[in-house]
Amino acid sequence: MNVIRIVLLAGCALIANSVLANTPDGATIAQQGNGHGVAPCMACHAPDGGGQAAAGFPRLAGLPQAYLRKQLDDFANGSRSNATMQPVAAGLGDAERDAVAAYYSRLSVPNTTPGAAPSGETAQLAQTLATRGRWSSGLPACEQCHGPGGIGVGDHFPPLVGQSSVYLGNELRAWQQGSRRNDPLQLMQTVANKLSDVDIAAISAWYAAQPAATTKELQP
Ligand code: HEC
Ligand code: HEC
Repeated sequence: MNVIRIVLLAGCALIANSVLANTPDGATIAQQGNGHGVAPCMACHAPDGGGQAAAGFPRLAGLPQAYLRKQLDDFANGSRSNATMQPVAAGLGDAERDAVAAYYSRLSVPNTTPGAAPSGETAQLAQTLATRGRWSSGLPACEQCHGPGGIGVGDHFPPLVGQSSVYLGNELRAWQQGSRRNDPLQLMQTVANKLSDVDIAAISAWYAAQPAATTKELQP
């Protein structure tokens, strides 16, 4: 009888230990990788999760948890095709994706130096696209989905402020080229296909120049 009890207790302890050891920790993955092939996120996305503007590595800090999780799934399943992120996402297990998404969503938005603001006609064009759209070609304003000031709305409309113009431009062109096709109802593909190169340069520079430090506090 006692022997059985001891064996059962030992078994429970083993299971408890392995559950604890296997619960992935988002901060550890971000800083050290996952120990089986995935590089530390911060090598590219920076220690504060602010990304690297010139390289087109996006900020992750303060983005909605569900949005981050969905992007990792989309890279892994190829609906968002990117040679750098695909192996990273595919190398993370289900619980690891949850853990890093939770970790980055809780980081406060880094106080990155905004990019140079466009001026003159470029600024005017960008502001029109952002706040009014171009109804002559059926293009809605960015704000209608991304919120006033581009700070993001809810779980599925990410903020545009706090991202670099390089990254914003890359994503708009990825939709045009079909390498990013992970958007619900092709909402962004439709938008991107109505933008010219001049539009993309203007709107990307404009959002990159807006201060982003307060976006998290303003989010609903
Ligand atoms: C070698 C560099 C590199 C590493 C390491 C890396 N990333 Fe990325 N990540 C990128 C690049 C480049 C992009 C932009 C891809 C694109 O343009 O679509 C990106 C994009 C993302 C996005 C999409 C953000 C958005 O706004 O849609 C998420 C989420 C992400 N990475 C999470 C992670 C996580 C989590 C890790 C660590 C487990 C990680 N990344 C490690 C380079 C990297
Ligand atoms: C009808 C709604 C809608 C409108 C209007 C819209 N967007 Fe989006 N946008 C989305 C959705 C939804 C996503 C997230 C797609 C996904 O799940 O990956 C998104 C994502 C993006 C991203 C990627 C952000 C990231 O972190 O990777 C960029 C850049 C972007 N939109 C730019 C714009 C710009 C610029 C405009 C205005 C010209 C605009 N959007 C108008 C719905 C919209």
